Amino acid sequence: MARYTRVKGSIALITLTNPPVNALSAAVRRGIVESVSRALKDEQVKAVVFCGENEKFCGGADIKEFSGSMSGPPLVPMIHSMEAGEKPMVAAIEGVALGGGLELALGCHYLTLGLLPAAGGTQRLPRLIGIPAALELITTGRHVSAQEALQLGMVDQVTEGNAVQAAMELALSVIGQPLNPCRLSLRAPVWAPDVDSVCDAALAQVKQRSRGAMAPVACVQAVRAAAMLPYGKGMERERQLMDTLFRSGQARAMQYAFFAQRNAGKWSLPNGAQWNNTKARDVQRAGVIGLGTMGQGIAVSLVKAGISVVAIETDIKQLESGKKAVTAMLQRDAQRRGVSPPLHLLTFSLSFHQLGDVDLVIEAVFEDMNLKKRVFSDLCKVLRENALICTNTSGLNVDELAAVTDRQPLVVGMHFFAPAHVMKLLEVVYGSRSSPEAVAMAVALGKRIGKVCVTVGNCSGFVGNRMLKLYLDQSVYLLEEGATPEQVDQALEEFGFAMGIFKVGDLSGLDVGWRVRKASGLIGPDVDPVKPSRWRLGRRYCPLPDMLCQQGRFGQKTGRGWYLYDSPGSKEAKSDPEIRNFLEDYRRKYGIIPRRITSQEVIERCAFILANEGFRILEDGIAAGPEDIDVIYLFGYGWPRHRGGPMFYASQVGLSAVLEKLEHYHRVHPDVSSLEPSRLLRRLVAEGNPPIQQWKSHIKNLRSHL
Ligand code: NAI
Repeated sequence: MARYTRVKGSIALITLTNPPVNALSAAVRRGIVESVSRALKDEQVKAVVFCGENEKFCGGADIKEFSGSMSGPPLVPMIHSMEAGEKPMVAAIEGVALGGGLELALGCHYLTLGLLPAAGGTQRLPRLIGIPAALELITTGRHVSAQEALQLGMVDQVTEGNAVQAAMELALSVIGQPLNPCRLSLRAPVWAPDVDSVCDAALAQVKQRSRGAMAPVACVQAVRAAAMLPYGKGMERERQLMDTLFRSGQARAMQYAFFAQRNAGKWSLPNGAQWNNTKARDVQRAGVIGLGTMGQGIAVSLVKAGISVVAIETDIKQLESGKKAVTAMLQRDAQRRGVSPPLHLLTFSLSFHQLGDVDLVIEAVFEDMNLKKRVFSDLCKVLRENALICTNTSGLNVDELAAVTDRQPLVVGMHFFAPAHVMKLLEVVYGSRSSPEAVAMAVALGKRIGKVCVTVGNCSGFVGNRMLKLYLDQSVYLLEEGATPEQVDQALEEFGFAMGIFKVGDLSGLDVGWRVRKASGLIGPDVDPVKPSRWRLGRRYCPLPDMLCQQGRFGQKTGRGWYLYDSPGSKEAKSDPEIRNFLEDYRRKYGIIPRRITSQEVIERCAFILANEGFRILEDGIAAGPEDIDVIYLFGYGWPRHRGGPMFYASQVGLSAVLEKLEHYHRVHPDVSSLEPSRLLRRLVAEGNPPIQQWKSHIKNLRSHL
């Protein structure tokens, strides 16, 4: 776990060996402590070099250990004894030095490259690079390059060649030099007259950026301590803050989210096929049909990953505007990264005949079943017989689309999120006839273009949008009952969402949902425009969003939506008194007596409706486990990471409490059937509230009884 070798006669080389990233597990820490003590005792050894196996210095703490009680030597005294050692210690950083990995390096006297804290990192880093730079790095967790680390003064030397070799040469050259100046813990606090205002500004910034998250706030408090207090006191403060974080549910939620994300790509299908028993064919060349909002982003993602793309549009005007947008995005990206844009990988065309040699096609035309069916059957006339056909539909039936093709096993959904070249989530939707190879190929492609892939079954809206629909319903019911868009959004933002649901609606365009509701028969000529009904297709219905669209209020694009904007396209949402009057008129018209709605009710109704539908999705076998649902909400819908995801949140609040609340809200709103607690939730409560990690096995047993 830490290999000790003697090199060049007088150097002890300590190599961390814990693949894949040499995380600081108990065994690695034990290895380091033993090796350091051996090196300090060995009179032949004059200097010590640390490195990591496989050209990765150290990825930080071993998160697996956070959930149990810690064993093995603790990190803080280990780093202290390294720093206090009477022989120069040099960290040869290759690849990464993250979190505890950087703290380990900071305990050395010299570094040959670097990155990021809670084992003294918040106290040592500011002493090395100053308060403003340390605050920025610690609160954002931004990774810095070797060159930037050198400029910041984090590392002593950067080498193009072998870092371990360079570290050994550095070690040999400093033997005998005094070590105290290199011991960061001995440096005085880096107090400067403006420290307070720098820390206050950082605090305001992290509160704004990571709403409701405790860790970034604690980071600022720890760095402030580094500026104000002697090292020992600062370390005490760091430990107190760390203890508070560890005890908070937020740390558990973050760890849960980390593992849920890591396991998301390990898909399995009901027929037993899964990620490790199915081979994926490689994709060299892909087609993208439709160069609108989504097609553009999809084409950009593919090309950036080195895949050549044939992009198809219906008419020359659309083709030209799509081409311009895709080219501009690729050029901006290339400029940022200092490389030339891979425009040679792109072909634009109005003809499907260009698609003869592609391995896979992603369809992103309008959300219209008949149009998509036409496109699918036309594609079969030109594609190679083993080419995959994928649809980016937001929720249409993948089986119905597959049925018009000559290759049902090769049809899957690849549901991207807007903007497709930025958003990390990809729902890979398997239909009842999709082959495991097709799923494997879509997931492999998703991973290659940097997406977090979650494999889900076929139903209306799949996982994300099926749940979103009910969450949207609750938010507008809250308006009917007495809330304002501002109140609902504020409660959601305080909970941790980056943006409230009404602001999100204004941003993505309220006309989008309006068109979908028209197409699904919820809006039609029978609806009274003056007093539209609040009951449609057998369910409670809120006509407020339609009424807004009738007034031309589509959101940011028209300068008016749930909020007011200075001009069409501008982004700053302002309260609109007209909306208040509009809501009051509406309630009067329907005889609704408004009541005061608390933030707690907003959160309960929005979060618990999501979890309740998540349980139904698990009952139906549409998602393989609660972690998959949570990953979808974390990466596609802005759910705050420090709250784990809607299913984790329900488990943290307690399933009995969630059940009680849903029963209560369903009693108050008997006409909203989605508030009725799901059978699975009831069964899990009856089974004694098992922890979320055990739900999967309970679900397996329970499914046969449901
Ligand atoms: P869009 O309206 O921006 O673009 C659709 C494009 O398809 C247009 O440029 C149109 O000219 C083109 N098109 C229509 N028929 C065609 C044909 N026969 N051949 C080639 N091109 C054709 O629509 P958007 O927003 O890009 O949506 C596309 C699909 O992605 C829809 O199914 C939508 O539900 C889905 N989607 C949309 C998301 C969004 O946030 N906009 C998010 C996730 C999925």
